Amino acid sequence: MCCFVTVGLGVAVINCFLLLTTGEATKYVTIGYLTISKADTFVRDMQGRLISGAMTYAITKINEDNLVPGHRFRLLWNDTHADTLVSTLSLCQQWREGAVAFFGPEGSCTVEARVAAAFNLPLISYVSINYIAFNK
Ligand SMILES: *[C@@H]1O[C@H](CO)[C@@H](O)[C@H](O)[C@H]1NC(C)=O
Repeated sequence: MCCFVTVGLGVAVINCFLLLTTGEATKYVTIGYLTISKADTFVRDMQGRLISGAMTYAITKINEDNLVPGHRFRLLWNDTHADTLVSTLSLCQQWREGAVAFFGPEGSCTVEARVAAAFNLPLISYVSINYIAFNK
């Protein structure tokens, strides 16, 4: 049936062909990323400014090189402004958008880690200075 799609919908033809040959539909995985780009208060290092490009690059490479066959990854990100309320709200918004894992936030992550744990989803903080939430 997919073979009857017109030439103008070439992408749809290819998708149908892949579905028929693999027997499985592509699964989409949404990843949430919480970082600091701008802050009203002093924040040491601001690692988000240094590593955020690596997140985008990694997601692009995973998708382009098909490193996880049958899956496509999507990155949602928010600037937390080093504010726990903004960060926690952002995490919840990303969760509502379908995020199933979170990277960040940098700085304190106690509240965000608890919220992610309540959702039973992983949160990997790349620069956590909070020893209470460390290794939970
Ligand atoms: C997070 O980012 C999304 C997309 O840019 C935006 O709509 C949302 O308002 C942001 N959330 C917060 C708390 O800043």
